[in-house]
Amino acid sequence: PDIDDIKTVFDFEYICSKILPKKTWYYYSSGAEDEFSLRENHNVYHRVQFRPKVLVDVSEVSTECEILGEKRAVPFFVCATALAALGNEAGEIGIAEGCAKGDFTIPQMISTLSSKSLGEITSSKKNNQDQWFQLYVNTDRKRALDLVKEAEHSGCSALFITVDAPSLGNREKDVKLPGKSKKVNGVSKGLSTFIDPSLDWEDVKYIKSQTKLPVFIKGIQRKEDALTAAKDGFNILLSNHGGRQLDHTVPPLQTLSEVVPLLKENGFKPGKDLEVFIDGGVRRGNDILKALALGATGVGLGRPILYSNSAYGADGVQKCKEILRDELAMNMRLLGVTKLDQLNESFVDVEGMKMK
Ligand code: FNR
Repeated sequence: PDIDDIKTVFDFEYICSKILPKKTWYYYSSGAEDEFSLRENHNVYHRVQFRPKVLVDVSEVSTECEILGEKRAVPFFVCATALAALGNEAGEIGIAEGCAKGDFTIPQMISTLSSKSLGEITSSKKNNQDQWFQLYVNTDRKRALDLVKEAEHSGCSALFITVDAPSLGNREKDVKLPGKSKKVNGVSKGLSTFIDPSLDWEDVKYIKSQTKLPVFIKGIQRKEDALTAAKDGFNILLSNHGGRQLDHTVPPLQTLSEVVPLLKENGFKPGKDLEVFIDGGVRRGNDILKALALGATGVGLGRPILYSNSAYGADGVQKCKEILRDELAMNMRLLGVTKLDQLNESFVDVEGMKMK
């Protein structure tokens, strides 16, 4: 379809289900095992409802916010996803261009397992654009630290250490293609053998001590770990890897609702003392509003970017971010907030959030 006919973020996914080679589609779309977490990541947003405030002058609304001390046009960003070139030759460079195109930019987190080299991706960056680096920690610690240095030198402005993948989740769709009785090698296989399964808190603290960049732990899934991370001076990305690692984990939005009060009780103010990001299942401006109301300071997009880039390249990524920006602004008006920092728990009902 013509890109002008794309109306929602879901449209990109539908198109990809039709046009991508099966192997790529299964690699991108799969979750682990029964794909419970994959579905719940998004479905949990349906179990949180709004409590709109009326008679607020909403003739002017702004989606601006501050992340890592800088003013941003919107509170969302691109999450690291491996192998973007499987769906579109331009790969992560198309994503970089899409992040920069149009009248606002969004940060791009670059995966250790990108299709393009870090140098190629960072040299395609425009001046006003932010790039972050996602690190899978190599068993060969020197290689991991070299990568961090390279990311620093090529202008990445934050480091995300992914900790939810000591070994790769069991993505059955990616391993077994339907219609074949014999197992065929999926895309994931062989990707992750270098990742160190012995990684612990001391290791990530050491890596943090070796860089000046702000460091996030990506893949925190319980409030106790969030508090440990905060106490050790890390920022936090609440994530279950888009449902691709351990299946049947609590969805990140629910974890967020537990993490933020605990951090506050312990004197940590999200947005001030540390960033508290979230990803997984975010497909609507509304989803972003709900996460922010529960205290998230930034929201990540994985598959929506892979799909929009696969279907339309940089133009698709631009369209994807604009759809979300427009939905966000429209729904802010309907919710009765003119600035994102007015959001708080009073705007949402979370009574039904937990699965009964
Ligand atoms: C990922 N994700 C991921 N995370 C990471 O830290 N390093 C990586 O290389 C990858 N690769 C990757 C590939 C694919 C195909 C997917 C779908 C995901 C996880 C990603 O950063 C993010 O946590 C989720 O994608 C967020 O969920 P949604 O937005 O895809 O629902």
